[in-house]
Amino acid sequence: MASITIRNLDVSIKEKLRLRAAAHGRSMEEEVRLILGELGNAIPMATPAMSTTIRASGSLSGRRILLIIGAGIAAYKCLDLIRRLRERGAQVRPVLTKAAEEFVTPLAVGALAADKVFTELFSREDEHDVGHIRLSREADLIVVAPATADLMAKMASGLANDLASAILLATDKRVLIAPAMNPRMWNHPATRRNRAMLQKDGIRFVGPNKGEMAESGESGDGRMAEPLEIVAAIEGLLARRQKPLAGKTIVMTSGPTHEPIDPVRYIANRSSGKQGHAIAAALARLGATVRLVSGPVTIPDPEDVTVIHVSTAREMRDAVEQLLPADAAIMVAAVADWRTANEAGEKIKKKPGEKAPALQMIENPDILAGVGHSKSRPRLVVGFAAETQDLLANAKRKLDKKAADWIVANDVSHATGVMGGDRNAVRIVTRLGVEEWPDMSKEEVAERLAAKIAAALQTVEV
Ligand code: CTP
Repeated sequence: MASITIRNLDVSIKEKLRLRAAAHGRSMEEEVRLILGELGNAIPMATPAMSTTIRASGSLSGRRILLIIGAGIAAYKCLDLIRRLRERGAQVRPVLTKAAEEFVTPLAVGALAADKVFTELFSREDEHDVGHIRLSREADLIVVAPATADLMAKMASGLANDLASAILLATDKRVLIAPAMNPRMWNHPATRRNRAMLQKDGIRFVGPNKGEMAESGESGDGRMAEPLEIVAAIEGLLARRQKPLAGKTIVMTSGPTHEPIDPVRYIANRSSGKQGHAIAAALARLGATVRLVSGPVTIPDPEDVTVIHVSTAREMRDAVEQLLPADAAIMVAAVADWRTANEAGEKIKKKPGEKAPALQMIENPDILAGVGHSKSRPRLVVGFAAETQDLLANAKRKLDKKAADWIVANDVSHATGVMGGDRNAVRIVTRLGVEEWPDMSKEEVAERLAAKIAAALQTVEV
């Protein structure tokens, strides 16, 4: 929206605006926005013939968006959002929370969306076909705007005590939220926890932006993204262009595992998770649904990837088994080969005159081999071989032993700096031969490997 300097307005108009804003308990700037929004709605968008043409060629043509409007002064921006989405050919079905009705009327929302506005969880009219399930089923994407702190908290903890939260709990569709709240609420530890949880659950965020709040004198993070920014995020998610891995599910492991000795000590290795996480992100960018089982790492979760955090090899194996079947399994984790046979229940104490304790070790499950030999073996199984000597011979042995299709072999001897570093030089060992890749960044390795995986999954045989 173009910016307006209230200072430059005619004195009498400014006075009327001040009175109107005070009567509504809003700032003058918010009042102007609201007036302009109403004006925009009153102006017909296009003649029916024109709008049909726009819709047929719109970037969101035929896409069904369920728009959940939360409470808050930013709710007025949803009127513009609906208009912009419809201009692009989307079908918008609105759901208003009870509190949102204090900010926008169902009448205005329904008129703009040209659809019924849903507000009640238990409505005789809408519930005959389990309303909230149907609403989710009939959508390509669910958008929550504004997403209040309260709605985010409900989503994070799985509450379903009104129509909006019930839809969000019952849905298996992608969900995009546009948070809007006071900066102190946005930065509150509770909201931070909820944000992290929602991100982990695969919820996409657009905004919030920095800026002035409706409350005078307040500014900071918490302003809802502008309608066009939300539209762009929606277009990004619903773009018609087919990505090469769209519809494919890929299970991954990454990072080290920690094997406890006692409640305070564990056995670990130097894996940072950088290479595995980069591959997960690259696969997701190509449209795959990536489920990543990660050992303890300090790097952030990769974008657009569902991450399951585990600690030990056995937890990692259990998580991977639960994620099968899948189209591909890419096992990058540096799984500890052994764990202690008897994990001590209490911290092992030094005793004067006694020798250091001898740790008895037993072998951990081989997760890659388990997947390779599994009844639900994915079409493509890729393992990594971290070696310090006899790279190719060891990689070839692993290919057979673990029933993998490819082994990505890398030299992790200390001098290479691969473990924990940002670069990698790998070789792809398959039954057909060895492909040698030059030294490149872990990001580049990830991009190239993701492209190779996409090509393999597009062919019938790998
Ligand atoms: N791997 C696994 N589970 C294990 C050990 C390894 O899934 N318990 C996987 C790794 O994720 C990797 C591949 O197997 O994809 C090879 O890992 P690596 O540590 O190089 O091989 P190991 O089988 O452990 O053999 P070794 O340590 O003797 O070289």
